[in-house]
Amino acid sequence: MTRPEDLLELAVATAREAARMLVQERPAAGPDVVQTKSSPTDVVTAMDRAAEKLIVERIAEARPGDAFLGEEGGETGGGSGVRWVIDPIDGTVNYLYDLPDWAVSIGAEADGVPVAGAIVIPRRGEVYTASRGGGAFLETAGGRRRLRVNENVPLAQALVATGFGYASGRRAHQAEVLRGVLPNVRDIRRGGSACIDLCAVAAGRVDAYYERGTQAWDVAAGALIVAEAGGRVAGLDGAPMSPEFTLAAGPGTFESLHALLAPLDPAHD
Ligand code: IPD
Repeated sequence: MTRPEDLLELAVATAREAARMLVQERPAAGPDVVQTKSSPTDVVTAMDRAAEKLIVERIAEARPGDAFLGEEGGETGGGSGVRWVIDPIDGTVNYLYDLPDWAVSIGAEADGVPVAGAIVIPRRGEVYTASRGGGAFLETAGGRRRLRVNENVPLAQALVATGFGYASGRRAHQAEVLRGVLPNVRDIRRGGSACIDLCAVAAGRVDAYYERGTQAWDVAAGALIVAEAGGRVAGLDGAPMSPEFTLAAGPGTFESLHALLAPLDPAHD
């Protein structure tokens, strides 16, 4: 039997180890860009690959038979019913520039249902966790606290995080959507890591987050953390979150922001 708490413990220990390695072994002159993906700005560093390799090795040692979906390594099979969804560095561009907002994100699903999520932000000394039905927590050197989203924030007072894709055509449309959002909210934040944006929603540090184009590994752990903090994470018009569109916010705020966003066609390039 697979208990969410056991999967979470493994996720946290593994994400902490990968984060330590990423801090200690980051070359002073910056990591080498070894590949570009969807556009010249969508980079993979040697450290993304090394961290994902470490994570997959550690988890496979502990739990042979599990499946993996990793940002760099793609999908690998396994018959246990548990699948690990891994972003070895979410916020790779921040890592490249030595900005502090990047994270290791590990989510676990059992029979397709998200059950555990761990996000380690080493340069902030923060570890966010959630297990299905067990709540969401933030652990720092100062202790551990339960997370709760902000609720019913009027749009004019809502601080909204968002992100942009790497393809220039998509960005042009995202800028148009932003033109419709910005005059109607308190302000916008663009931190550069989708999973950290989701942690910020869960912790009440922003009131909402939306983005088109995030992949499963960007949001697997973070969406569970928001849900366990009492928030809602979904796509447009009742669709589940997907690379098409993801909106996360507390009750009330979700509905108001959805009403503002939907006519702006944010799931379109
Ligand atoms: C990116 C970050 C960024 C978001 C992009 C993601 P990566 O992930 O989460 O905030 O705007 O959509 O692709 O490439 O750093 O793993």
